[in-house]
Amino acid sequence: MKNKINYVLGVETSCDETSASVITSQKVLSNIISSQTVHLQFGGVVPELASRAHLKKVIPIVDQALEKAEVTFADLDGLAVTNGPGLIGALLVGVNYLKGLSLTLDLPLVGVNHIEGHIYGNFLNGQEIPFPCIALVVSGGHTLLVLVSDHLKYKILGQTRDDAVGEAFDKVAKLLDLPYPGGPEVDRLAKSGKDDAINFPRSMLGSKDFSFSYSGLKTAVSNYLREAGLVKDEQHLQNICASFQKAAIEVLVIKTIEAARTYQVRDILLAGGVAANSLLRKWMSEDAEKYHLKVHFPPLEYCTDNAAMIARAGYEYLVRNRISDLDLNAYPALTLNQKN
Ligand code: KG4
Ligand code: ZN
Repeated sequence: MKNKINYVLGVETSCDETSASVITSQKVLSNIISSQTVHLQFGGVVPELASRAHLKKVIPIVDQALEKAEVTFADLDGLAVTNGPGLIGALLVGVNYLKGLSLTLDLPLVGVNHIEGHIYGNFLNGQEIPFPCIALVVSGGHTLLVLVSDHLKYKILGQTRDDAVGEAFDKVAKLLDLPYPGGPEVDRLAKSGKDDAINFPRSMLGSKDFSFSYSGLKTAVSNYLREAGLVKDEQHLQNICASFQKAAIEVLVIKTIEAARTYQVRDILLAGGVAANSLLRKWMSEDAEKYHLKVHFPPLEYCTDNAAMIARAGYEYLVRNRISDLDLNAYPALTLNQKN
């Protein structure tokens, strides 16, 4: 028996985006995202500054989300908030604000795992993907392959042993003096580069499991730059970006296709910020076609951190009455199957 849930308010504050969204199961009515610019001068996210910026922004961003969706608090049927993994101070801002709303508005509240949120970025605006499916979740903090057997049912097949792939993009971009976050910049520059100019390692390609490793690739780029001395010109920069990107993406494509074939699953979904990468989308789609597999990925705005994906995952909990109580807490290392 499913609960009748129409409007869900979702809030995401796990890292450096303050976001609020109102959705129904079939439509995103609003998805307001405020990206914190305070970190730009540091070339990475400063946790304390992130928490302060969330504190200032969360209430106005929720107000904007309601206004854009043309609903009021009284219209809402449920609330969803990211409660991990992420920066503890940042997560606590969203969790505590929504606990307050839940109490004062007498609305059910559910804590959503940020990684499952990314997976549900594929299910917005009425998009449906048949189960079981394989999810490749790739972002600044995560690199993992998940077998999704049904709504809210996950089995982790493998993950990174060290850095996340998005982290590798960001670190390589920093070595090349490109702005943060580096992924989109490297992607753009790689388009005009020769991807076989430099032979960077494909870590763990032959490991015969679904684990990943990205710290070696980052070190290889750093060593290359030390030996090469200066980046000579724009073409040299583009070649480094293209060669690095090819090495980073190839392992993702090969292991994801292998996972789909091993588990005899037809549908593959890409999730997380690196799912915005143009080479990953193209290469995965082309290889999948060879094996009659189907690849899905969200529009760009639902790849990087946003609250619509949190609200959509929250919806699946709320209709099943799987709700959190006011003891809900924030967990910086929350795992995908951990109950809260
Ligand atoms: O999902 P997300 O917004 O935040 C986390 O949960 O980490 O992902 C951000 C990550 C950053 O590392 C960023 O560089 C990467 O996604 N990213 C990309 C692209 N767009 C964003 N990486 C490669 N190519 C892109 N086009
Ligand atoms: Zn994320």
